[in-house]
Amino acid sequence: MQIFEKSNIGKVSLANKIVMPPMCMYITDNSGVANQFHFNHYGARAIGGVGLIIQEATAVNKNGRITNKDLGLWDDGDQFEVLKNLVSYVKLLNPSTKMMVQLAHAGRKVDVNSQKDFTDIIAPSSIKFNDKSLQPREMNDQDIANTKKDFIEATKRAIKAGYDGVEIHAAHGYLLHSFLSSASNKRTDNYGGNAENRVRLLKEILTEIREFFPADKILSIRISAADYYNVAESLKESIEAVHSVESLVDAIHVSSGGLTDNAPSVYPMYQLNLAKEIKQLTSKPIIAVGLINTKEEAEYVVKSGSADFVAMGRELLRNPNWVLLNNPNAKDLENMPLSYKRAF
Ligand SMILES: Cc1cc2nc3c(=O)[nH]c(=O)nc-3n(C[C@H](O)[C@H](O)[C@H](O)COP(=O)(O)O)c2cc1C
Repeated sequence: MQIFEKSNIGKVSLANKIVMPPMCMYITDNSGVANQFHFNHYGARAIGGVGLIIQEATAVNKNGRITNKDLGLWDDGDQFEVLKNLVSYVKLLNPSTKMMVQLAHAGRKVDVNSQKDFTDIIAPSSIKFNDKSLQPREMNDQDIANTKKDFIEATKRAIKAGYDGVEIHAAHGYLLHSFLSSASNKRTDNYGGNAENRVRLLKEILTEIREFFPADKILSIRISAADYYNVAESLKESIEAVHSVESLVDAIHVSSGGLTDNAPSVYPMYQLNLAKEIKQLTSKPIIAVGLINTKEEAEYVVKSGSADFVAMGRELLRNPNWVLLNNPNAKDLENMPLSYKRAF
């Protein structure tokens, strides 16, 4: 099956086309430092033969967390050291598995229950996410400069920690997504208004990262290709954003929603039409996600040319051995522990 064939994103060779998408575990203490849970959690998916693990949203700034239990990579101390060990551990368990980290800033979508641990909530405009959420303040020039710096510094740490790549989180209504959308960005300066201005912050971050980013690692973005308050308008805006930044990235991970509370109706492969739409705009590999749970569905995604890689979130939470159980040639896989081969 094509999903179990090797394939590249940029210069990085992946053992198969199955991706573990970023999924917050909300299981650190207030320090943002990874713990034993993360070693077991990501280690199990590496032994399970996942081609590419994208570590959960990891904050670039203390106030950029979603909750006070998020991972962080804003300091060079324990946050950096423990994640460096985590990457080595994953690679030790399965040298064929590649590991990226999703770098994120929550912007105005800070969990209300964690608010005592947050000092400053920022957003492109001073508009709350919903009635229950905290009031953000409109970012000034200094905040924009600081945010760029935070993404850049965290990317440098991620490279130094040994990750195979970095995914910049520009989806689900978080800070960078809220700049891209005219529904949340009402700015009148260079960072708001027309499409070129709304994508400026993301583009500046990616451009600066590109200056030092190693050619043998993956730089990707995650986008919400459409949002459910106005699918047509939001899709148009994401297409414009993709046109502006696709030359700067190695892959585009296509999700949807999150800018408002409006949720889509879900069914198998519910976001695949959006992945397909974005794939038509670019030659860059597309990662599809969203209730792709069976090998038939995953194979359809790739064979139909709708997308190039298949991310499975909740299915990999249920079953870390999905790849091994579905790949008919599992026992011949490189780097499977010898004793495991007897089980296949
Ligand atoms: C527990 C959980 C945590 C999540 N955390 C993140 C995250 O950190 N970053 C992100 O971009 N998406 C996050 N998501 C969304 C998933 O990456 C994925 O897009 C979504 O679950 C749909 O895919 P699935 O149907 O295969 O689970 C999360 C989803 C779940 C279930």
